[in-house]
Amino acid sequence: MTIPRSTKLTIVGAGSVGTSLAYAALIRGSAREVVLYDIATAKVDAEVLDLAHGTPFTGSSRITGGSDINLVADSDVIVITAGAKQEPGQTRLQLAEVNVGILEKMLPPMVALAPNAVFILVTNPCDVLTAVAERITNLPPGRIFSSGTVLDSSRLRWIVAEAAAVAPQSVHALIIGEHGDTEFPLWSSATIGQTPLSQWTDGAKGLLFPRERLETITHDVVHAAYKVIAGKGATNYAIGLSGARIVEAVLQNERSILPVSSVLHGYRGIDGVALSVPSVVGAGGVQRVLDTHLDEREAEQLQHSAETLAASIALFS
Ligand code: 2OP
Repeated sequence: MTIPRSTKLTIVGAGSVGTSLAYAALIRGSAREVVLYDIATAKVDAEVLDLAHGTPFTGSSRITGGSDINLVADSDVIVITAGAKQEPGQTRLQLAEVNVGILEKMLPPMVALAPNAVFILVTNPCDVLTAVAERITNLPPGRIFSSGTVLDSSRLRWIVAEAAAVAPQSVHALIIGEHGDTEFPLWSSATIGQTPLSQWTDGAKGLLFPRERLETITHDVVHAAYKVIAGKGATNYAIGLSGARIVEAVLQNERSILPVSSVLHGYRGIDGVALSVPSVVGAGGVQRVLDTHLDEREAEQLQHSAETLAASIALFS
């Protein structure tokens, strides 16, 4: 009998995002071994203990962790959540400087300890940090990427699903571009089941998603994080679940199509900028970015996102 190789996920950062991701990964069984690492010893030890106490009720995953950097050795996937977080009213791009500094210190020893790991950045601004991190680590294309607009797309699917009274899993719609203020939905290819969103009717009331409704939904998705942050100081559960979902795609070599953010080279004229486009995610990380259909407005929105991010990245060249 061959014993399946154990999968090791390390989550860096024991704040609200890192711990929610660990919690989601344990419940979903995303990896056999989950390690939570943080430099704050008392905090990380307490979080690991609390999570471990719940594992009799989860799947077969095990949680360990602490503040020793050697814990990341031989990880298959490392998810980075550590860094300064958005304060109420602050944009994601305003966090860049402090979080670039953190990555510069943290990434080289981690790559040395886990040379084959896939790195997934969740820390914001995740697109800018992905481009900088690829430069710092020199990892091959696709081995370092960020959660990008996976979370924003799930927000979009949930809002549309609630409006249409269907399951969010039956809404096929993506947000792409920057994980931030210039992100935008791909309305032109959105469907509910097999029905184009633009043709979805609500019985007697007629079309449910006219242009004005789509504008309102776009606004609500783009501002969703601001709303949650204003109310409770951070977003954590939905990003935790999104992160766990991406980890599974890598560890199971699913080749799932997810809107993650990786550095693009010659994609519709975009070069050296990381942003989210539909990507095949599996073993080794991003295996391929897909040239998806965009209408004229979406193509312009993608360029606008790319220009905004290029200006931010230029500050760190
Ligand atoms: C989010 O979108 C703040 O980027 C974080 O929830």
